[in-house]
Amino acid sequence: MKPTNLSPIRVGLLGIGTVGSGTYNVLQRNQEEIRRRAGRGIEITMVADLDVARAKAAVGAGVQVVDDARKVVTSPDVDIVIELIGGYGIAKQLVLEAIEAGKHVVTANKALLAVHGTEIFAAAHRKGVMVAFEAAVAGGIPIIKALREGLTANSIQWIAGIINGTTNFILSEMRDKGLDFDVVLKEAQRLGYAEADPTFDIEGVDAGHKVTLMSAIAFGIPVQFDKAYVEGITGLAAQDIRYAEQLGYRIKLLGITKRAANGIELRVHPSLVPAKRLIANVEGAMNAVVVQGDAVGTTLYYGKGAGSEPTASAVIADLVDIARLHTADPEHRVPHLAFQPDAMSDLPVVPMSDVVTSYYLRLKVADEAGVLAKVTGILAGAGISIDAVLQREADEVGGEGSTHTDLIILTHDCVEAKMNNALAQMQALPTVLAPITRIRKEELA
Ligand code: HSE
Repeated sequence: MKPTNLSPIRVGLLGIGTVGSGTYNVLQRNQEEIRRRAGRGIEITMVADLDVARAKAAVGAGVQVVDDARKVVTSPDVDIVIELIGGYGIAKQLVLEAIEAGKHVVTANKALLAVHGTEIFAAAHRKGVMVAFEAAVAGGIPIIKALREGLTANSIQWIAGIINGTTNFILSEMRDKGLDFDVVLKEAQRLGYAEADPTFDIEGVDAGHKVTLMSAIAFGIPVQFDKAYVEGITGLAAQDIRYAEQLGYRIKLLGITKRAANGIELRVHPSLVPAKRLIANVEGAMNAVVVQGDAVGTTLYYGKGAGSEPTASAVIADLVDIARLHTADPEHRVPHLAFQPDAMSDLPVVPMSDVVTSYYLRLKVADEAGVLAKVTGILAGAGISIDAVLQREADEVGGEGSTHTDLIILTHDCVEAKMNNALAQMQALPTVLAPITRIRKEELA
C-alpha cells in the first residue's frame, strides 16, 4: 500500500477573491477526505493578494500572506501555484515564472490559456510540470476530466455547450418575462449576475475562450482562440425568442466545436435549439455541455459554471491530481491537451464562411403582394431549401392598420457563404424594411 504519511503538499495562492476563499474553505472543511483521496495532505501555506487585510481575514493564522505574488512563485516552500488573478497580463508572467521555478500550476484562467496556451503548455512540458485548468471551463462541471480521460476511447464528433452563465441567465429572463436584452442586462447587473463591464460575457468572448480549450482537448489541435468565430447576444430581440418558441425552439448562446469534412469548426453564437433537447431546458446561470463521441453516443454534463465553492471544487480536483501524480515520470502523466504533444493534429479551423448549418431569419417586410415570393425566390436561386415559414397578421405585429409584418423563415442546412450572399440580396429589396436578423440553428440530434 502507498504510504500516507508523506508531508502535505504546499500550495501558494495568487488572488484570494471569491474562488480563492472558496478553495481555502473547502480544503479546510474536507481536509480529511481530501487527504485520504490524495494520499497526503494539501495545505495552502502562502497567499498573495494586493488587499493583505482581506487576505488575512480569509485564511488561518498559519498562512503567510504577502502583497507580492512573485514571493509565492519563487518560494522554495511552495510546490503548486494556484493562479486566480485572471487576464493575460501579470497572470501570464507569474504562470511562466512559476513554471520556470519548477512549480505545478492550477489556473481558472481561460482567457490566458485560450490565447497563450501553446506557449504555456510548451514551457510546462520542458520543465516537466503540470498546468491544470479544470476550473477554466464550466466552473464546477468536470468537463476537462471527462473529455481528457473519461471519453478517451472516442473519436469526438462534436461538443455544444452553454458555457457562460451570465448570458444564459439573461436569455432565460428574456424568455420568461418577454423583455429586451438591454432591460435584462441592467437587471442582471443590479442582481450581481453580470459584471459592471459585461463585455467578455455578452459578446461571447468568455464562451469563445472555453470552447477553444474544449476543442483542443477533443481534437488534439493547438489552442487557437484567434481562429474562433465569436458572436454574442447583444443583437437578440425579445420577439426572436418568442418566434423561436412558436416554432418549437429556444435560443441559447452555444459554444460549438465539431469535426467537419474540411477541418474543425470552432464557433460561439446564439443558436436555436429544439425545445425538446435537454440542453434547451438549462435555465438561469447554469451551464451544460453535450459531447457526442462515436463510441459513447451523446453525453450531457450539467452544473454550476461559476461561484465560489463550485469553482473551488474544480481547483481542488486539480490539486488532488497533482498531489497524486507529481512524483510520476512526466511522460506517464495525462497530457495537458489529452493528446501527446508530439501527436497533435494540424487539422485547420474552418472559416465561418465554410461552416454548414441551418438558419432562422426574421425580415421586417412591407405587407404587400409578391414580397414573400421575392424572398423565397432569392433563397431558391441560392439553392437554399426552406424548412418552415411563419408570418403573423400585420395588425398583430405592428398594431392596428400596420402596413408591415414579420416574416420568419427556417432553412435547411446550407454553407454560410451562400447564406451571406442571399442575405445581401434580400436586404437590398425595397420591401425589406429593416436589417434582417439571422440566427443559426442547431438540431443537436
Ligand atoms: N463570467 C462567467 C460566466 C463565469 O458568466 O459564466 C466565469 O467563467
